[in-house]
Amino acid sequence: MTQLPGLLDTEAIRKDFPILDRQVHDGRKLVYLDNAATSQKPRQVLDALNEYYERYNANVHRGVHVLAEEATALYEGARDKVAEFINAPSRDEVIFTKNASESLNLVANMLGWADEPYRVDSETEIVITEMEHHSNIVPWQLLAQRTGAKLKWFGLTDDGRLDLSNIDEIITEKTKIVSFVLVSNILGTVNPVEAIVRRAQEVGALVCVDASQAAPHMPLDVQALQADFVAFTGHKMCAPTGIGVLWGRQELLEDLPPFLGGGEMIETVSMHSSTYAPAPHKFEAGTPPIAQAVGLGAAIDYLGSIGMDKILAHEHALTQYAVRRLQEVPDLRIIGPTTAEDRGAAISFTLGDIHPHDVGQVLDEQGIAVRVGHHCARPVCLRYGIPATTRASFYLYSTPAEIDALVDGLEHVRNFFG
Ligand code: ALA
Repeated sequence: MTQLPGLLDTEAIRKDFPILDRQVHDGRKLVYLDNAATSQKPRQVLDALNEYYERYNANVHRGVHVLAEEATALYEGARDKVAEFINAPSRDEVIFTKNASESLNLVANMLGWADEPYRVDSETEIVITEMEHHSNIVPWQLLAQRTGAKLKWFGLTDDGRLDLSNIDEIITEKTKIVSFVLVSNILGTVNPVEAIVRRAQEVGALVCVDASQAAPHMPLDVQALQADFVAFTGHKMCAPTGIGVLWGRQELLEDLPPFLGGGEMIETVSMHSSTYAPAPHKFEAGTPPIAQAVGLGAAIDYLGSIGMDKILAHEHALTQYAVRRLQEVPDLRIIGPTTAEDRGAAISFTLGDIHPHDVGQVLDEQGIAVRVGHHCARPVCLRYGIPATTRASFYLYSTPAEIDALVDGLEHVRNFFG
């Protein structure tokens, strides 16, 4: 068995994830390499969800009865856990949403309805990058269309990094917001936050970081990032679907207007007007995803018990190994950085002129689950002149043996297609 320095005890960890024992296609061992799409869930999270529904289920912030108080304590306790996980200065800076897309849409809409000095209008500019997930493109396109603001973006270098050579022309005195991904879901690139934040601060622009592919895989410190907003989702970090997070700086959350209106986000309501609850409740209209937040809290406990720095080291070793092994496959082209430094554990590639959907299907027949397509980042495929990629992505339970299985599987794909 291949041993690499820095690997976690995956034999022990995998016992926590019942689904990893599954067999598919008549007895083939499941090799799950689609973690950038969603992670699997450990028994500890499944148990927390079950326990919540079996013992505590009630609506939060509304009832005076025991269950309502216990459910509220669990929901708000999950907020404390998130705040600690991302080193937020205050728990009130943590807003629960449905997913990272909703978090990013929330920022775009806060700014779209804001007064000066935050208002985005036809005199202002919005900056994103060409490697964004659609969830960090479309909300800004919608905002630009609605307000007349100009949408600008950083292009990409041939090796899958951000081209910051024209940073002073892209981020200007007119820029109101710079929104970019910390780790690309398609290229795996880890972006240079500091350089972008420094320039944004020079011109007084706000910074929003999409940390969806970072929060599950590395220590995340919102104070060190020096951003104004950070968005991520639970389901990629061992939590259930239906729970996302937007962290925002307290004074911004106090000043900016709500997006969704409804129950629990108000202070008072009359038939003529309403006043709003303080953040974070101002941004959490309606019954929130209570069980999902509890599940996220359990996922954070689970990841914390292993250690985010150890998870990062594990994935770094695996990625280094995978990049080397994949480059041994004839005709395989990695789309994104080919050095393991400054890259995350999602690796996209093409295999000669075999369509990625065919690659994915033949791998699936061997029990190997990867994602194929444009990965909700179609501009990246357009930039590199390819219709789609095959993407393998790893997590704390992934092993070198699974990477070997992928490489063997790709040999099989090559033979299959002659
Ligand atoms: N954003 C997820 C992915 O990259 C769904 O697959």
